[in-house]
Amino acid sequence: MRLPIIAGNWKMNKTIDETVKLIGALNESVGHGLEKDVEVVVCPPFTALNRAKELLDGSSIKLGAQNMYCQPDGAYTGEISPVMLKDLGCDYVIIGHSERRKHFHETDDEVNTKVKTALEYGLRPIVCVGETLKQREDGITEELVSDQVQKAFNGIDSSEVSSIVVAYEPIWAIGTGMSATAEDAEKVISLIRDVISKMYSTDISERIRIQYGGSVKPANAKELMEQPNIDGALVGGASLDSASFAQIVEYK
Ligand code: PGA
Repeated sequence: MRLPIIAGNWKMNKTIDETVKLIGALNESVGHGLEKDVEVVVCPPFTALNRAKELLDGSSIKLGAQNMYCQPDGAYTGEISPVMLKDLGCDYVIIGHSERRKHFHETDDEVNTKVKTALEYGLRPIVCVGETLKQREDGITEELVSDQVQKAFNGIDSSEVSSIVVAYEPIWAIGTGMSATAEDAEKVISLIRDVISKMYSTDISERIRIQYGGSVKPANAKELMEQPNIDGALVGGASLDSASFAQIVEYK
């Protein structure tokens, strides 16, 4: 049985005061007693991670970062290393989000290097893949997503695969209010599981968790997450509001 994982990607939102309010409310609503049913992660901006960790002391909500650089230290002005994230108490790190691929030109090779470095320093990567609207309309979704997954996992040892979470996020569904249908999301996510099965084994592919992301909200969470291959959600906009994130976490 795979434990569903619901992660809130706050993106470039929330000051420290706002972080205190949001995490305070989440600790009250979903911070205790759900551990056996669902793993909950929040991914605030770098500037709020330290405060967030203090606030999560004694809570079952885990901490993640939204990005990292692929070196432990050195002359990389403005970057944040996996060692620093570990030091701040992060368990997870989002890697290869489509906004990073689009605005900061991250390539599949960089994503792969970051996944390897994250694992090396004890962080669990949440690796994002997904197609643009044009790619979907051109009928190349499956080919494109398979390729992204193969490249992200290139050279990753089979013993490490179950530490990784994949987030299938169709780019056209992110922040648009236009979620993929549960059926479409399930189709691509089961394809991702097949790709992992071919690269490793069926057993490994049955253990890796694959989330859906893209306009997940309280109204569609249950339908999406009840699909057999969908193991939770990566939530953007709806994770900024404590009530809506809590409702998604409590989708059952
Ligand atoms: P959204 O973002 O929920 O606002 O669509 C999802 C994401 O980018 O991870």
